[in-house]
Amino acid sequence: MNDFYYTNRRRIRANQHIRELAAHVQLNHKEFIQPLFLDENISTQTPLSSLHEINSDTLTSLLQQMENDLQNGISKFLLFPVPAKKSERNFDYNFIINGLREIRKKFGNTVWVAADLCLCAYTSHGHCGILNAARNKVSNDESVKELARYALQLAKAGADCIAPSDMMDGRISAIRDILNENQLDDIAIMSYSAKFSSQFYGPFRDACKSTPGNNCSIHDRKSYQASPFNKNDAILSTIRDIEEGADIVMVKPALPYLDVVHELSEAVKWPLAAYHVSGEYQSIELLAQNNIIERDKAHVEIWTSLKRAGATIIISYAARHAKEWIEKIEY
Ligand code: PBG
Repeated sequence: MNDFYYTNRRRIRANQHIRELAAHVQLNHKEFIQPLFLDENISTQTPLSSLHEINSDTLTSLLQQMENDLQNGISKFLLFPVPAKKSERNFDYNFIINGLREIRKKFGNTVWVAADLCLCAYTSHGHCGILNAARNKVSNDESVKELARYALQLAKAGADCIAPSDMMDGRISAIRDILNENQLDDIAIMSYSAKFSSQFYGPFRDACKSTPGNNCSIHDRKSYQASPFNKNDAILSTIRDIEEGADIVMVKPALPYLDVVHELSEAVKWPLAAYHVSGEYQSIELLAQNNIIERDKAHVEIWTSLKRAGATIIISYAARHAKEWIEKIEY
């Protein structure tokens, strides 16, 4: 008789059957959102060099990609525009508006599309809002007005959900107001509420050509994104966004902020998305390309950790594999 005669933990690990029975986290592809890039600068689908297997799409290739994704069980999308023209203000949103209309025309209600709402792909300096005259500050209120104007156009064009990632203060209530004033009160808002100033956005900024600091003196987003050293700010921003009318809240990046996912899942019983962002995704891809880890199992393990921490929605660049990979999980 050894010390663990009565209390050994191995009986519930003994084989796949009992491991399945003992599991208390289940993944479901229905809870996944696939990001997509619609790029005005290209004429054929173009692989992104820093985001393995992910493409910049033309409208034609995007519609085809969504068709394939639908067949693979993914019906929810997060759409990022990459406009050809960059400027300081008076942005032209026609490219993404046309894209949304075509998506709606082709797919009707078989897909759910959240339109990312931010100015960083439109501004010549790469910041998520409009700069003040001295070019040393992102003007919160002017940016919020512009974002609300943009949100209305996205909603009218057929977005099911507006997903503001700009991190200006007061944008959720401004968006909710303008949508409701225009009888668009059934359009949801998914707020990037706990969005941290992070290294892990690098590949995304390559894709959107939105690295901040071009011809201005501010080279990071620390004045509007939460600090990794200040969890409370992220929690309070999330509570504030819920009070302002957010329907879904989010933690981003995911893995370095699992503590925030967990705390929010306990504190606010709201749909909670965890965004496994571009740099997190690509770090898995690079390890897998070097045969150091197994790609599918690594993504599934991370997704499981997000669910375990309390996320109810997962945004992943590998979402289109979720159904296939989840089906073949070996517990
Ligand atoms: C910007 C935005 C970012 C992402 C989505 N919207 C990055 C940033 O703040 O520069 C990152 C997504 C990713 O890295 O996958 N508005």
